[in-house]
Amino acid sequence: MRLLVTGAAGFIGANFVHHVLGDAGQGDVARLVGVDLLTYAGNFANLRGCEGDERFRFVRADVADRPAMAALVAAERIDAVAHFAAESHVDRSIEDHAPFLHTNVHGVLSLLEAVRERPGVTRFLHVSTDEVYGSIAAGRVDESAPTRASSPYAASKAAADAFVQAYGTTYGVPVVITRACNNYGPLQFPEKLIPVFVIGALEGEPLPLYGDGLHVRDWIHVEDHCRALWHVLRLPGADGGTFNVSAHEERPNRQVADEILAAVGAPASLLRRVADRPGHDRRYAIDATRLRNTGWQPRWSFADGLAATVAWYRDNRTWWDAVRSGVYRQYYEHMYGDRLRASDPAATGGRA
Ligand code: NAD
Ligand code: TYD
Repeated sequence: MRLLVTGAAGFIGANFVHHVLGDAGQGDVARLVGVDLLTYAGNFANLRGCEGDERFRFVRADVADRPAMAALVAAERIDAVAHFAAESHVDRSIEDHAPFLHTNVHGVLSLLEAVRERPGVTRFLHVSTDEVYGSIAAGRVDESAPTRASSPYAASKAAADAFVQAYGTTYGVPVVITRACNNYGPLQFPEKLIPVFVIGALEGEPLPLYGDGLHVRDWIHVEDHCRALWHVLRLPGADGGTFNVSAHEERPNRQVADEILAAVGAPASLLRRVADRPGHDRRYAIDATRLRNTGWQPRWSFADGLAATVAWYRDNRTWWDAVRSGVYRQYYEHMYGDRLRASDPAATGGRA
């Protein structure tokens, strides 16, 4: 396999590259080209250890740059694409949809065009999200549920999914879509709930819980997600298919916060109830039976995965010290400053 991995320097992309260049891809991968624009979320340090592997090449490029993607796919004789590159944070999409439209929609179209011109490509895997289904009132939804995006981020991913499906139907591009639930684990940029709270708890900083803290998310360890993606990338007969990816570990945010505080050994008084996110989806819960029936199973329980993640952040202060400097400080102040100053620690009473 000659594999193109976009978003290779991001959280899940980098974990996937390590997974595939490690034991999982032995004998299967002749070439792995990682593409990444190295935005605020991309971090070349996430790929440490790959430089010495002669199968690996890194290219800094914008996935929405059509000529660049077409040239790369042709020059590297790519036969499979795993597309991770995206603007991925809901809060940022509420501030400004433009980069989401650019990368998530124009980016996927640029890659689909590059692949359409290259009949040798046997799989185009689009790494999507359960957020395209919107809030799920009860039960778990399978892949037949309609898309009902709530945030500009989710709308851009749902649009990308629709283009991917259309290129499968119209041009016969061998597409597959995966829709995973919330990931956590090593290398996650501290803008998502778990790294914000783990690092905050380690530092003794206030932990901003949105609204009443009873919003439910469905959590999967990034390693289980990467195993699922590698499995789906090579799954025979899957063209045109969509697969939910979940470990079926739903929890309200308040419970996740309590589990983090317990794992770190930090006081509950750090919790602050802050103003809610507009359009905040109340609950995500997806049914991954279709994928499980093809032979994939998660290996991490949330309790073990969270403990390992807390240990990783504890042991890798240099990594997060570097990403939390400069521009990140401005982001943190912009996103949380006023909300934290307006929050009432006494009112949270330690258990929000
Ligand atoms: P991330 O924000 O950590 O990484 C995204 C990467 O894409 C970064 O390295 C960034 O530099 C790169 N990138 C952004 N714009 C680019 C562009 N125009 N050209 C090239 N590279 C660009 O995101 P993540 O959490 O690793 O998510 C990866 C994928 O998985 C995304 O498509 C996301 O929608 C999807 N996903 C994420 C989650 C989650 O919980 N994080 C859950 C389900 C699906
Ligand atoms: P997030 O990690 O942003 O993922 P998503 O919104 O894509 O699911 O948020 C996960 C949940 O945690 C979501 O319900 C919003 C909430 N949240 C907080 O309460 N505080 C925070 O600082 C963040 C980033 C999220």
